[in-house]
Amino acid sequence: MDGSKAPTTAPVLILLGPPGAGKGTQARMLDHAYGLVQLSTGDLLRAAVAAGTDAGNAAKAVMDAGGLVSDDIVIAILRDRLAEPDCARGVILDGFPRTTIQAEALDRLLSEQGKRINAAISLDVDDAAMVARIAGRFTCGGCGEGYHDSFKLPAIKGKCDTCQSTAFKRRADDTPTTVATRLAAYHAQTAPLIAFYETQGALARVDAMGAIDDVATALGAIVAKATA
Ligand code: AP5
Repeated sequence: MDGSKAPTTAPVLILLGPPGAGKGTQARMLDHAYGLVQLSTGDLLRAAVAAGTDAGNAAKAVMDAGGLVSDDIVIAILRDRLAEPDCARGVILDGFPRTTIQAEALDRLLSEQGKRINAAISLDVDDAAMVARIAGRFTCGGCGEGYHDSFKLPAIKGKCDTCQSTAFKRRADDTPTTVATRLAAYHAQTAPLIAFYETQGALARVDAMGAIDDVATALGAIVAKATA
């Protein structure tokens, strides 16, 4: 994708998909290519846990078990982040909304700001492949760039391509048991949002079983069309 294609409006895009679908990977790529701000509620919650805030303390056990954090907590965190000045250039929501209550809250928040959802993009994948993707995932401890033991290794072993850090980390909730719980939560509580956004006329779908760059190309075409 080419940064010169940056949209002139401030788009709001949503990435839907189960754990391991590639939401974070693709959101970072869209951030770099289009200047959109990646808003990951998973990252915001992990930061709250690390900081020991009330919200973080309430969320920790639920996240460790692979369940969904309460709507009230997540909506409050998202509302605060959306109000920050950098979001005026457009956002890509990664991991939010995850329930119908969150989707309705997002509609209200955007409406208050005179904004709308340009596209809700479902990354369509097979559950079986997600366990392998998550089992091999690791991220740079310096800049957060995502990698995979098989599908995306740093060009120089042990050194981040983006910031050259040599510190990497793996997520505490990336265990087989927790992934199974997270997948079940996705199908029970988040997959219904596909129909929600189809009814709004905002839904787009991408086959996300292909290589990372192929998925990015398909997404780029949708983003360009949705923000034209
Ligand atoms: P969150 O951090 O959002 O986790 P998740 O939804 O489970 O998604 P992941 O981050 O695991 O996967 P991803 O789709 O981003 O995949 P990635 O790009 O990393 O949430 C964590 C927890 O926080 C939740 O369980 C919940 O408790 C809580 N939470 C968060 N938001 C919430 C909300 N709104 N409401 C309530 N609770 C909330 O890719 C995975 C791996 O695969 C990487 O290694 C990557 O390199 C590789 N990969 C990516 N794409 C491809 C490809 N096309 N081919 C091969 N490998 C690929």
